[in-house]
Amino acid sequence: MRTRLLALALTIVLLPGATMALAQAAAQAPTRRPDVIFVPTPEAVVEAMLQVANVTKNDVVYDLGCGDGRIPITAAKKYGARGVCVDIDPQRIEEITANVAKNNVGDRVRVIHGDLFEQDLSGASVITLYLLPSLNVKLMPKLMKECKPGTRIVSQSFDMGDWKPEKEMDVDGRKVYYWTIPKR
Ligand SMILES: C[S@@+](CC[C@H](N)C(=O)[O-])C[C@H]1O[C@@H](n2cnc3c(N)ncnc32)[C@H](O)[C@@H]1O
Repeated sequence: MRTRLLALALTIVLLPGATMALAQAAAQAPTRRPDVIFVPTPEAVVEAMLQVANVTKNDVVYDLGCGDGRIPITAAKKYGARGVCVDIDPQRIEEITANVAKNNVGDRVRVIHGDLFEQDLSGASVITLYLLPSLNVKLMPKLMKECKPGTRIVSQSFDMGDWKPEKEMDVDGRKVYYWTIPKR
């Protein structure tokens, strides 16, 4: 009887804390698993991607699936652009947040924990991608629909199927592809 009473007392005391911890974990959890794992773009390729897009301080650079945030952070630090980092993985969000602080670009780089397919892309002037061929093709209609004409798109390693790039280059053994969103 004493054991049962003790168990009941422990449940009453511990339950609110456990419930709160679970609720917090659920709030931080990604809405779903990443479509592709994190593999960082080498710095030389980051530079080439920003240069081919001719990034300046007037740009807003979105990296869709931004990993540790290196592309928007470099765009902000080196070119004075504004950056938007989108990633679905909470571990990446912790890293990006730390990297943004370490590089003192918190006033220019926004971090979004979410699904890249659910973001409003109308504010971007440059979009960078390092995803997969199938994800690029899936994303293309959204780019065409939401991005302003003239928005520059740069993808590392993977093209966009039938949408032929305006520029294509090799950087340290990797392909970099470049398009601009056409007039509607
Ligand atoms: C190959 S890494 C590229 C990282 C970074 N863009 C770079 O070039 O260094 C792909 C990233 O996309 C993220 N990701 C995968 N699916 C996603 C989705 N549906 N929405 C947002 N991010 C996603 C992964 O968590 C990972 O960090």
